[in-house]
Amino acid sequence: MPEILPSLLAADFTRLGEQIAQVESSGARILHLDIMDGHFVPNLSMGTPIVSAVRKVTRLTLDVHLMVANPEAVVPLFLEAGADCVSVHQETTPHLDRTLRFIQSEGAKAGVVLNPSTPVSTLEHALDLCDYVLLMSVNPGFGGQKFIPYVLDKARALRDWRDRRRLEFLIEIDGGVSVDNVGKVAEAGVDWIVAGSSVFGEADPGSAFSRLSRAARDSVARPA
Ligand code: DX5
Ligand code: ZN
Repeated sequence: MPEILPSLLAADFTRLGEQIAQVESSGARILHLDIMDGHFVPNLSMGTPIVSAVRKVTRLTLDVHLMVANPEAVVPLFLEAGADCVSVHQETTPHLDRTLRFIQSEGAKAGVVLNPSTPVSTLEHALDLCDYVLLMSVNPGFGGQKFIPYVLDKARALRDWRDRRRLEFLIEIDGGVSVDNVGKVAEAGVDWIVAGSSVFGEADPGSAFSRLSRAARDSVARPA
Protein backbone atom coordinates (compact mmCIF):
# COMPACT_ATOMS: atom_id res chain seq x y z
CA MET A 1 0.00 0.00 0.00
CA PRO A 2 1.34 3.49 -0.83
CA GLU A 3 2.58 5.63 2.05
CA ILE A 4 2.40 9.41 2.25
CA LEU A 5 5.66 10.99 3.50
CA PRO A 6 5.06 14.49 4.86
CA SER A 7 7.90 16.81 3.82
CA LEU A 8 9.04 19.11 6.60
CA LEU A 9 10.16 21.75 4.12
CA ALA A 10 6.61 23.10 4.13
CA ALA A 11 6.22 22.92 7.93
CA ASP A 12 6.30 25.85 10.34
CA PHE A 13 9.90 25.65 11.60
CA THR A 14 8.99 27.47 14.81
CA ARG A 15 6.58 24.63 15.68
CA LEU A 16 8.29 21.56 14.20
CA GLY A 17 7.64 19.23 17.16
CA GLU A 18 3.96 20.11 17.22
CA GLN A 19 3.56 19.73 13.46
CA ILE A 20 5.31 16.34 13.50
CA ALA A 21 3.00 15.20 16.30
CA GLN A 22 -0.02 16.18 14.19
CA VAL A 23 0.93 13.96 11.23
CA GLU A 24 2.20 11.22 13.52
CA SER A 25 -1.14 10.97 15.28
CA SER A 26 -2.85 10.70 11.88
CA GLY A 27 -0.72 7.64 11.05
CA ALA A 28 2.38 9.01 9.27
CA ARG A 29 5.27 6.56 9.54
CA ILE A 30 8.01 8.30 7.58
CA LEU A 31 9.06 11.96 7.47
CA HIS A 32 10.86 13.44 4.47
CA LEU A 33 13.63 16.00 5.15
CA ASP A 34 15.01 18.12 2.32
CA ILE A 35 18.63 19.22 2.52
CA MET A 36 19.60 21.95 0.02
CA ASP A 37 23.04 23.48 -0.36
CA GLY A 38 22.60 26.51 -2.63
CA HIS A 39 24.93 24.90 -5.22
CA PHE A 40 23.32 21.79 -6.65
CA VAL A 41 19.96 23.50 -6.18
CA PRO A 42 19.40 27.26 -6.06
CA ASN A 43 18.10 27.30 -2.51
CA LEU A 44 19.14 26.58 1.08
CA SER A 45 17.04 24.68 3.58
CA MET A 46 18.05 22.78 6.68
CA GLY A 47 21.15 20.98 7.92
CA THR A 48 22.21 18.46 10.54
CA PRO A 49 21.03 20.48 13.59
CA ILE A 50 17.43 20.24 12.39
CA VAL A 51 17.74 16.51 11.64
CA SER A 52 19.16 15.89 15.15
CA ALA A 53 16.41 18.00 16.71
CA VAL A 54 13.71 16.11 14.82
CA ARG A 55 15.34 12.81 15.82
CA LYS A 56 14.90 13.80 19.47
CA VAL A 57 11.16 14.44 19.20
CA THR A 58 10.01 11.47 17.11
CA ARG A 59 10.61 7.79 16.52
CA LEU A 60 9.27 8.03 12.96
CA THR A 61 11.54 6.91 10.14
CA LEU A 62 13.56 9.87 8.82
CA ASP A 63 14.06 9.94 5.05
CA VAL A 64 16.80 12.45 4.27
CA HIS A 65 16.92 13.74 0.68
CA LEU A 66 20.33 15.26 -0.05
CA MET A 67 20.13 17.96 -2.73
CA VAL A 68 23.78 18.85 -2.33
CA ALA A 69 26.91 18.81 -4.43
CA ASN A 70 29.49 16.22 -3.31
CA PRO A 71 27.07 14.34 -1.02
CA GLU A 72 29.73 11.79 -0.04
CA ALA A 73 31.27 14.47 2.18
CA VAL A 74 28.14 14.93 4.28
CA VAL A 75 26.44 11.52 4.25
CA PRO A 76 28.25 10.48 7.50
CA LEU A 77 27.05 13.66 9.22
CA PHE A 78 23.41 12.97 8.40
CA LEU A 79 23.71 9.34 9.47
CA GLU A 80 25.18 10.55 12.73
CA ALA A 81 22.30 13.04 13.11
CA GLY A 82 19.80 10.18 12.99
CA ALA A 83 18.77 9.60 9.36
CA ASP A 84 17.27 6.16 8.72
CA CYS A 85 17.18 6.51 4.94
CA VAL A 86 19.53 8.66 2.90
CA SER A 87 19.13 9.43 -0.79
CA VAL A 88 21.71 11.02 -3.08
CA HIS A 89 21.14 12.43 -6.55
CA GLN A 90 22.54 10.40 -9.39
CA GLU A 91 23.53 13.74 -10.97
CA THR A 92 25.81 14.62 -8.02
CA THR A 93 27.39 11.28 -7.26
CA PRO A 94 30.15 9.96 -9.55
CA HIS A 95 30.88 7.03 -7.21
CA LEU A 96 27.30 5.95 -6.72
CA ASP A 97 28.13 2.30 -6.09
CA ARG A 98 30.52 3.20 -3.28
CA THR A 99 28.15 5.74 -1.73
CA LEU A 100 25.16 3.38 -1.68
CA ARG A 101 27.25 0.62 -0.15
CA PHE A 102 28.58 3.03 2.47
CA ILE A 103 25.08 4.12 3.52
CA GLN A 104 24.00 0.49 3.84
CA SER A 105 27.14 -0.47 5.74
CA GLU A 106 26.11 2.10 8.37
CA GLY A 107 22.77 0.35 8.81
CA ALA A 108 20.62 2.83 6.84
CA LYS A 109 18.55 2.45 3.67
CA ALA A 110 20.19 3.84 0.56
CA GLY A 111 18.27 5.67 -2.17
CA VAL A 112 19.12 7.23 -5.51
CA VAL A 113 17.29 10.33 -6.73
CA LEU A 114 16.71 11.16 -10.39
CA ASN A 115 15.85 14.64 -11.61
CA PRO A 116 12.83 14.75 -13.95
CA SER A 117 15.00 14.77 -17.08
CA THR A 118 17.39 12.00 -15.97
CA PRO A 119 16.33 8.68 -17.55
CA VAL A 120 15.73 5.63 -15.38
CA SER A 121 18.02 3.66 -17.73
CA THR A 122 20.98 5.34 -16.03
CA LEU A 123 20.33 2.99 -13.09
CA GLU A 124 20.38 -0.23 -15.11
CA HIS A 125 23.37 -1.64 -13.26
CA ALA A 126 22.92 0.02 -9.88
CA LEU A 127 19.29 -0.97 -9.34
CA ASP A 128 20.22 -4.15 -7.52
CA LEU A 129 22.00 -2.00 -4.95
CA CYS A 130 19.23 0.50 -4.26
CA ASP A 131 16.81 0.19 -1.37
CA TYR A 132 14.72 2.87 -3.06
CA VAL A 133 14.65 5.10 -6.11
CA LEU A 134 13.29 8.63 -5.69
CA LEU A 135 11.85 10.18 -8.83
CA MET A 136 11.66 13.97 -8.73
CA SER A 137 8.35 15.13 -10.12
CA VAL A 138 9.45 18.79 -9.97
CA ASN A 139 12.86 20.33 -10.57
CA PRO A 140 14.41 20.15 -7.10
CA GLY A 141 14.95 23.21 -4.95
CA PHE A 142 11.53 24.49 -3.98
CA GLY A 143 8.27 23.33 -2.48
CA GLY A 144 4.93 24.25 -3.98
CA GLN A 145 5.77 23.60 -7.66
CA LYS A 146 3.60 22.00 -10.33
CA PHE A 147 3.74 18.22 -10.84
CA ILE A 148 5.52 17.10 -14.05
CA PRO A 149 3.30 14.33 -15.48
CA TYR A 150 5.85 12.48 -17.66
CA VAL A 151 7.53 11.30 -14.45
CA LEU A 152 4.68 8.79 -14.12
CA ASP A 153 6.03 7.01 -17.24
CA LYS A 154 9.34 6.70 -15.40
CA ALA A 155 7.56 5.22 -12.36
CA ARG A 156 5.78 2.65 -14.53
CA ALA A 157 9.05 1.77 -16.29
CA LEU A 158 10.77 1.25 -12.94
CA ARG A 159 7.91 -0.87 -11.65
CA ASP A 160 8.08 -3.10 -14.76
CA TRP A 161 11.81 -3.39 -14.35
CA ARG A 162 11.42 -4.34 -10.70
CA ASP A 163 8.86 -7.03 -11.57
CA ARG A 164 10.88 -8.47 -14.44
CA ARG A 165 14.12 -8.63 -12.48
CA ARG A 166 12.41 -9.64 -9.22
CA LEU A 167 14.02 -6.78 -7.32
CA GLU A 168 12.70 -5.24 -4.13
CA PHE A 169 13.60 -1.55 -4.25
CA LEU A 170 10.82 0.88 -3.42
CA ILE A 171 9.73 3.68 -5.72
CA GLU A 172 9.34 7.16 -4.23
CA ILE A 173 8.05 10.32 -5.90
CA ASP A 174 8.61 13.89 -4.75
CA GLY A 175 7.09 17.20 -5.75
CA GLY A 176 3.74 18.70 -6.68
CA VAL A 177 1.58 15.94 -5.22
CA SER A 178 -1.90 16.95 -4.13
CA VAL A 179 -5.21 15.31 -3.47
CA ASP A 180 -6.03 15.83 -7.18
CA ASN A 181 -3.17 13.73 -8.57
CA VAL A 182 -2.20 11.38 -5.72
CA GLY A 183 -4.47 8.65 -7.10
CA LYS A 184 -2.67 8.60 -10.45
CA VAL A 185 0.70 8.53 -8.66
CA ALA A 186 -0.35 5.52 -6.58
CA GLU A 187 -1.73 3.74 -9.66
CA ALA A 188 1.65 4.11 -11.38
CA GLY A 189 3.12 1.83 -8.71
CA VAL A 190 4.73 4.39 -6.40
CA ASP A 191 5.29 3.15 -2.82
CA TRP A 192 6.38 6.34 -1.07
CA ILE A 193 4.66 9.59 -2.01
CA VAL A 194 6.21 12.80 -0.63
CA ALA A 195 3.83 15.66 0.09
CA GLY A 196 4.93 19.04 1.44
CA SER A 197 2.53 21.91 0.76
CA SER A 198 -0.46 19.61 0.46
CA VAL A 199 0.13 18.52 4.08
CA PHE A 200 1.81 21.35 6.00
CA GLY A 201 0.40 24.10 3.78
CA GLU A 202 -3.09 23.12 4.94
CA ALA A 203 -4.76 24.49 8.07
CA ASP A 204 -4.93 21.00 9.60
CA PRO A 205 -1.89 18.93 8.53
CA GLY A 206 -3.21 15.81 10.30
CA SER A 207 -6.45 15.68 8.33
CA ALA A 208 -4.67 16.71 5.10
CA PHE A 209 -2.36 13.72 5.61
CA SER A 210 -5.34 11.40 6.19
CA ARG A 211 -7.13 12.69 3.10
CA LEU A 212 -4.10 12.10 0.88
CA SER A 213 -3.49 8.62 2.34
CA ARG A 214 -7.11 7.63 1.78
CA ALA A 215 -7.10 8.91 -1.81
CA ALA A 216 -3.86 7.02 -2.58
CA ARG A 217 -5.05 3.78 -1.00
CA ASP A 218 -8.53 3.92 -2.56
CA SER A 219 -7.06 4.30 -6.02
CA VAL A 220 -4.95 1.14 -5.74
CA ALA A 221 -7.67 -0.85 -3.95
CA ARG A 222 -10.19 -0.08 -6.73
CA PRO A 223 -10.83 -3.10 -9.01
CA ALA A 224 -9.49 -2.57 -12.56
C1 DX5 B 1 11.66 19.84 -3.63
C2 DX5 B 1 11.71 18.91 -2.44
C3 DX5 B 1 10.40 18.36 -2.01
C4 DX5 B 1 9.41 19.38 -1.51
C5 DX5 B 1 8.08 18.97 -2.05
O1 DX5 B 1 12.93 20.09 -4.09
O2 DX5 B 1 12.55 17.80 -2.72
O3 DX5 B 1 10.53 17.30 -1.07
O4 DX5 B 1 9.32 19.45 -0.10
O5 DX5 B 1 7.18 19.99 -1.81
P1 DX5 B 1 5.74 20.02 -2.48
O6 DX5 B 1 5.01 18.77 -2.03
O7 DX5 B 1 5.17 21.27 -1.94
O8 DX5 B 1 5.94 20.03 -3.96
ZN1 ZN C 1 12.52 16.03 -1.29
